[in-house]
Amino acid sequence: MHKKNLFIQTYGCQMNVYDSDKMFDLLKENMPIQLCENESDADILLMNTCSIREKAQEKVFSELGRWRKFKNKRPDIIIGVGGCVASQEAENIHKRAPQVDVVFGPQTLHQLPKMISKIIHKREKVTDISFDPIKKFDQLPPPGQTGPSAFVSIMEGCSKFCSFCIVPYTRGPEISRAVGDVLLEISQLVALGAKEIHLLGQNVNNYNSTFNSETFNLAGLIRLINLIDGVERIRFTTSHPAVFDQSLIDAYRDVEKLPNYLHLPVQSGSDKILMEMKRGYSHMDYRGIISKLRKVRPNISISSDFIIGYPGETDFDFQQTFDLVKQLNIDHSYSFIYSPRPGTPASFKEDNVTLAEKKDRLSKLQTLIQGNAFKISQSMVNTNQNVLVTGYSAKSKTQLSGKTENNRTVNFDGPSTLIGNILPVLITQANKNSLDGKIVDNDI
Ligand code: SAH
Ligand code: SF4
Ligand code: F3S
Repeated sequence: MHKKNLFIQTYGCQMNVYDSDKMFDLLKENMPIQLCENESDADILLMNTCSIREKAQEKVFSELGRWRKFKNKRPDIIIGVGGCVASQEAENIHKRAPQVDVVFGPQTLHQLPKMISKIIHKREKVTDISFDPIKKFDQLPPPGQTGPSAFVSIMEGCSKFCSFCIVPYTRGPEISRAVGDVLLEISQLVALGAKEIHLLGQNVNNYNSTFNSETFNLAGLIRLINLIDGVERIRFTTSHPAVFDQSLIDAYRDVEKLPNYLHLPVQSGSDKILMEMKRGYSHMDYRGIISKLRKVRPNISISSDFIIGYPGETDFDFQQTFDLVKQLNIDHSYSFIYSPRPGTPASFKEDNVTLAEKKDRLSKLQTLIQGNAFKISQSMVNTNQNVLVTGYSAKSKTQLSGKTENNRTVNFDGPSTLIGNILPVLITQANKNSLDGKIVDNDI
């Protein structure tokens, strides 16, 4: 039977990347199907969407406009929209983009094979955006393939309702996946060649699940994963400062597989803004966490998220953010101008910071962080770093490329047989966006 060509366009966070992989795994179990690289070759086009900022959402409709042309030429192709925009705007999508056949939410992607076969056989539009995360997890097939680093979702949804954020509305309430399921999936990934396991969720340090009548939080789960042979590095994203407790600091002290890197979004350095955002911590709380971590991991790199120009943010508030970044030597950030999201409490506030001010503050912050990052890179020169070899370098097929614990790309010469391993690399030079290195053990 002819294999259908599937094209998946993924926007948004790592959870969407994980979900897109699962969409393919699910469909593969149910029909002869293969991924294709060109959208024009596809029989099924799926878009996994993000609505975190307005721009991300707008992209969905402009892309769907392009896909309409494929459908005009070949009316038998199937177009599906999933993810966070689908969850919020299902009706609107069907109205604004009649070329779309199926709309599914982040929690109903396990229904995808059923929905697709309904369209094939009945040619009627299908929508399911309900929240049923446990069913979703229960019905996911085992992973079919992996690279050296693999994502594993350990939670779904978010119940924190920060005043600016759309996620609790698109992904539903926070729920933890069963410990046994997480461990099983990790073992399967390791058997397929994964060395680094990257745990995913909106607030992974709220993880809470019972296994053999014992309750595990994130630190407990990490300690269990630490025991799995073949797992060499354990990352997690995103943790939340309000629930970052001593057990996680202790995990950093004890578990060597946790890299010298933490992504801990602070959003702002101003207590007034943090309170208005309903984040549940002060800038001193945040500084306290970082200082405790640095006691057990002096070289840890800290990455963070910032929202610039939240309603009411003054020059003084911004200065406090700037000072925090400087004093804590923040190494990396995802920083964006505030974008009002429909229905969130912040969207009812007057968006009273001018665009010029927002742009100016964002650029100052990003320049500061780039400077921090370059200095940290320079301090790594002449040191040995543990590098996960992920593939070839972007510039040359004869060079290998990998990631340090603190998430820097390192390029170095070596045989392709090293791809997928973690090995020590001597850093020889710091460039603006990468490092150069040399394999430490010349016998390899
Ligand atoms: N759960 C994570 C964040 C997930 S959303 C946490 O609480 O830290 C990822 C990032 O998107 C947020 O950290 C925030 O910086 C940004 N973001 C969310 N809503 C936004 C909005 N309305 N405007 C601009 N940035 C936003
Ligand atoms: Fe959004 Fe806040 Fe939940 Fe993070 S914790 S996903 S910012 S509501
Ligand atoms: Fe975007 Fe949804 Fe992730 S809004 S950031 S895809 S949780």
